[in-house]
Amino acid sequence: MNRQFDVDLTSFNTLGLRSRARELVVFDDAARLPALQALVEQAGAFFVLGGGSNVVLSGQVDPLVIKVQSRGIRLLETRDDAHIVEAQAGEVWHDFVGHCLEQGWPGLENLALIPGTVGAAPVQNIGAYGVELEQRVHSVLAWNFRQARLVELPAADCGFSYRDSRFKHDPAGTWLIVAVRFALPRPWTPVLDYPDLRQRSALAGTADARAIFEAVCQIRRQKLPDPAVLGNAGSFFKNPVVPQVQRDALREQWPGLVSYELGQGLCKLAAGWLIDQCGWKGRRDGSVGVHERQALVLVNHGGANAQDIERLAQSIRADVRRRYGVELEQEPVRVV
Ligand code: EPU
Repeated sequence: MNRQFDVDLTSFNTLGLRSRARELVVFDDAARLPALQALVEQAGAFFVLGGGSNVVLSGQVDPLVIKVQSRGIRLLETRDDAHIVEAQAGEVWHDFVGHCLEQGWPGLENLALIPGTVGAAPVQNIGAYGVELEQRVHSVLAWNFRQARLVELPAADCGFSYRDSRFKHDPAGTWLIVAVRFALPRPWTPVLDYPDLRQRSALAGTADARAIFEAVCQIRRQKLPDPAVLGNAGSFFKNPVVPQVQRDALREQWPGLVSYELGQGLCKLAAGWLIDQCGWKGRRDGSVGVHERQALVLVNHGGANAQDIERLAQSIRADVRRRYGVELEQEPVRVV
């Protein structure tokens, strides 16, 4: 296996935080899983790195870093109700979405331009513009290091919920996602409910997945910074879920509050709005700051480390708590 020691991870995380790994091993072939098992047993602890777009890395990462670079996409089956497509974990998510469209397998276009890899997508159940990954997953193929075997977890066993899955909660050191199998719906129907898409009259009544793909790319480019230009990890906080009564009370005091009803007496609040209203949008604190067009996105202006970004996050959380009595939860995974 390709093992490297004292590796600079600064360019392997999209926030661009200064970080080094004690040891890094590249995983690019499922045939190497038994060898990887032995390495993990020796190391004791490991951390899986995909595109590095949803992590806050500390200066020194002690667990063995497994860098996933396995590639391959294949159509497994064309069923009456779905194309079943398998992608290896190291495939770049956005390229995979584009490839599916080219092959005539639509269904992921609303998730265009999300940074990261296919293998990372189920961990946080990525979602955008009205589609969440869980709606398109058939199963996840994952190596279980506790049992030293490959298992296929049907979507229903993945514990998916908003930006969450069992892969975040099962004991650390259990899983390495090896491949994801998608069920891309047949017949395909466009999902255009999200306000940003509904407002685009050019899309009204469209039956063109490519047009939706392009529109989503355009919206994201307008609102979200490109990590290659300005370090960031997308939304730094989840949109908090609160009881409807709490939302109603807040709305009386703050009529502009943006929220979505989830049913069962629960509402999701737009964290971006809360942070924006606290005056954080575009603010800078040394090497870190809040993006000027999207208050949910924290950015690294250059040279920041995990402490810098977390100090800023703490200040934002404290302000939102003081003003609205709402607790914000960090979205990217913290790696120490
Ligand atoms: N808003 C503000 N100020 C801001 C940002 C947002 O007032 O600075 C308001 C907007 O005007 C809008 C509402 O808040 O009324 C929601 O904003 P937006 O539609 O931009 O979506 P979001 O809730 O900020 C979520 C996801 C994004 C995803 C978009 C589109 C989370 C944590 N974030 O953002 O996901 O792209 O919806 O579906 O759920 C990510 O997870 O990294 C991510 C970018």
